[in-house]
Amino acid sequence: MNKQRASKALTEAMAECAAMVETFLKNVLSSQKSCEGKLYSAMGYASLKGGKRLRPFLTLQSAKLFEASEQYALRVGTAIELIHCYSLVHDDLPAMDNDSLRRGRPSCHIAFDEATAILAGDALQVLAFEILSDPKTHPDPNVRVALVKGLAIASGGGGMVGGQMIDLESENCDVDLETISRMQRLKTGALISFSCEAGAILGKASVEEKQALIKYAQDIGLAFQIADDLLDVLGTEEATGKTINKDGEAGKATFVSLLGISQAQKRAQFLIDNAIGQLDMFGNKAANLRAIADFIVERRA
Ligand code: IPE
Ligand code: IPE
Ligand code: MG
Ligand code: MG
Ligand code: MG
Repeated sequence: MNKQRASKALTEAMAECAAMVETFLKNVLSSQKSCEGKLYSAMGYASLKGGKRLRPFLTLQSAKLFEASEQYALRVGTAIELIHCYSLVHDDLPAMDNDSLRRGRPSCHIAFDEATAILAGDALQVLAFEILSDPKTHPDPNVRVALVKGLAIASGGGGMVGGQMIDLESENCDVDLETISRMQRLKTGALISFSCEAGAILGKASVEEKQALIKYAQDIGLAFQIADDLLDVLGTEEATGKTINKDGEAGKATFVSLLGISQAQKRAQFLIDNAIGQLDMFGNKAANLRAIADFIVERRA
């Protein structure tokens, strides 16, 4: 498939995935109606109508490689998306990045208040595990436990939350490339990596297949955060739906602050080329995973 056709197919597939996630999320949230009203509104505000839905897309596409059920993959991808949405709500809080714009709208703590945003993040987080542990996610309890454990590891102190800690501690410090790579792999890479691994768990992939997919995911995960850091400098508020030039103002340690724009771009492209190289064994079935890798460095949002 040529690049133009691959990119059109990707846009359609991503839109289809986003619509499926939106419908399922609305359904899931309606099961939370016993929540206090304001909390319920804030959970919906932070998770519905927005975002690229990259992580569920990766789970769906990875599961497809092994002909695993799309319905199971949608539940798992949405659970990962809930963790991602919670991480964004907390990331924007005044105690963290103090960002007032998210997905083109006021951040959750601006639209509601700080305490409600903290609680909405907490509730979105546990909702993810409620979904994964439900027998509707997979009939085999061993698969469900593997999913719960994998998501817990990717989200916690050795994953996203740990990476966020390094991010905050590195503000206004001289940080080397190794520390930045570790921080980015944890804060962003871990969830992206698990999004693909989850597809392999659902599809009962061989060790070799799982390893190749995880290597692909680790590289796109790191490239994704480098692209996010580049967008903070080169992007627009209209396209990203976020305030621009926040990282420099906050003294954040990023690949861009350490290497400069051009070297950061080169590094992201190198990682993407490496990632695509991992997919050879999957042949044409991995076309969308190849296209999303290219999208990650070319995106404007
Ligand atoms: C933004 O993630 C935060 C990072 C981990 C870099 P996304 O760029 O995936 O945000 P949405 O979900 O599309 O809004
Ligand atoms: C956030 O990274 C990563 C998370 C775990 C939420 P950033 O702080 O760079 O994300 P944005 O730019 O605010 O979306
Ligand atoms: Mg941050
Ligand atoms: Mg931020
Ligand atoms: Mg950023």
